Amino acid sequence: MTAIGHSPLVRRWRAAATRFTTPLLPDDYLTLVNPLWSARELRGRIVSVTPEAEDAATIVVEPGWGWSFSHAAGQYIGIGVQIDGRFVWRSYSLTTPPSRDGRRLVVTVRAMPEGFASRHLVHGVRAGTIVRLAPPAGEFVLPDPLPGKVLMLTAGSGITPIMAMLRTLDRRHGTGSPADVTVVHSAPDADRALFADELVLLARRHPGWRIVQRHTRVEGHLLLHEGNPGAGRATGSSPRATLEGLVPDWRQRETWACGPTAMLDAAEKAWADAGIRDALHLERFSADLTGGEAEGGTITFARSGRTVDVDGATTVLEAGENAGIPMPFGCRMGICHTCVAPLRSGAVRDLRDGAEARVAGTDQGTRAVQTCVSAASGDCVIDL
Ligand SMILES: Cc1cc2nc3c(=O)[nH]c(=O)nc-3n(C[C@H](O)[C@H](O)[C@H](O)COP(=O)(O)OP(=O)(O)OC[C@H]3O[C@@H](n4cnc5c(N)ncnc54)[C@H](O)[C@@H]3O)c2cc1C
Ligand code: FES
Repeated sequence: MTAIGHSPLVRRWRAAATRFTTPLLPDDYLTLVNPLWSARELRGRIVSVTPEAEDAATIVVEPGWGWSFSHAAGQYIGIGVQIDGRFVWRSYSLTTPPSRDGRRLVVTVRAMPEGFASRHLVHGVRAGTIVRLAPPAGEFVLPDPLPGKVLMLTAGSGITPIMAMLRTLDRRHGTGSPADVTVVHSAPDADRALFADELVLLARRHPGWRIVQRHTRVEGHLLLHEGNPGAGRATGSSPRATLEGLVPDWRQRETWACGPTAMLDAAEKAWADAGIRDALHLERFSADLTGGEAEGGTITFARSGRTVDVDGATTVLEAGENAGIPMPFGCRMGICHTCVAPLRSGAVRDLRDGAEARVAGTDQGTRAVQTCVSAASGDCVIDL
């Protein structure tokens, strides 16, 4: 997901143009004319940043050259935004149906407390800002044809990929979609509920859709299984709602779930206990990188000729990006393996479970490591 996705024609043109434009590369001239024209990387221009509920914003991006407009509803893109002089990459789910007509990408970002990139995107960037883009990816999509009964279980900003799915179904069928869809969406309160009004309108347009919006500060978290941790109890004496009570036929529904880690862990347990884990599709927004501690050390990126000193909390991916190296990446959370790079020597530790990968100086060959979840465990050499 670095310099990316361009056709053989564009690559041949670039090679030919290089001969005539040296010492500047053709990219340098293109960018002078229009910052969205780059044959080296995908770029976009922020068209608008619109507040969306409390502490969130919908960001519209006009992509430049090379963007294919062929995402599936539910997929995410990478956005690289310059903060304090360096590009910081994060993943965001597209919220709109695939469309070549509008030629715009739309994401909704929730500013995380202490969040480095999300706070900047929600409160710092302005229309006109040029961002880098990585193409759509992800398996969290609806099949075609749709299963007979669908449940969408979301909380917080986890509604974003589901919004793309609902908007796609709405556009495909117009009023009165034949799909049997139940959506259960939780937000802390009305002020922080994303897309609340649109969800009400969608439910009115499609009699077969049932959309339940819950406010956890008053109602507590939905109980997904017996023994579901008791955080966020309902106020007053009313018992917390259960999935069983709210959606009695949940076992018959193919389910797409996206939300905080605790909710997704509880859903995994509930579906596994019911023996229907295969009917549950999950999208996680973050990996738990607290399962292992690395010492940190000096990482040498052999092919780029860069060396950086890092602490044990900085992933190899972040270290490379901070040093300006075009690192490959996808999900940034240990799932897609796009970031895999060869470890030539030394050791790295997987921050999810503490497992160490080591290549001794005398060893022949390398070991493949996932840079997005690995940190230096002493000095090491990565073949990038
Ligand atoms: C496939 C995918 C799709 C995503 N889609 C969206 C989206 O549509 N909208 C959106 O707002 N975000 C989305 N995210 C999350 C987003 O990529 C960032 O992780 C998020 O914006 C926080 O980035 P940050 O730089 O502000 O936080 P950081 O500065 O990286 O982290 C700040 C603190 O928050 C914690 N943290 C970071 N992310 C999360 C999280 N998701 N949940 C709980 N704690 C977290 C970190 O552990 C850290 O303690 C998606 C992530 C993935 C992997
Ligand atoms: S970026 Fe997906 S596994 Fe590392």
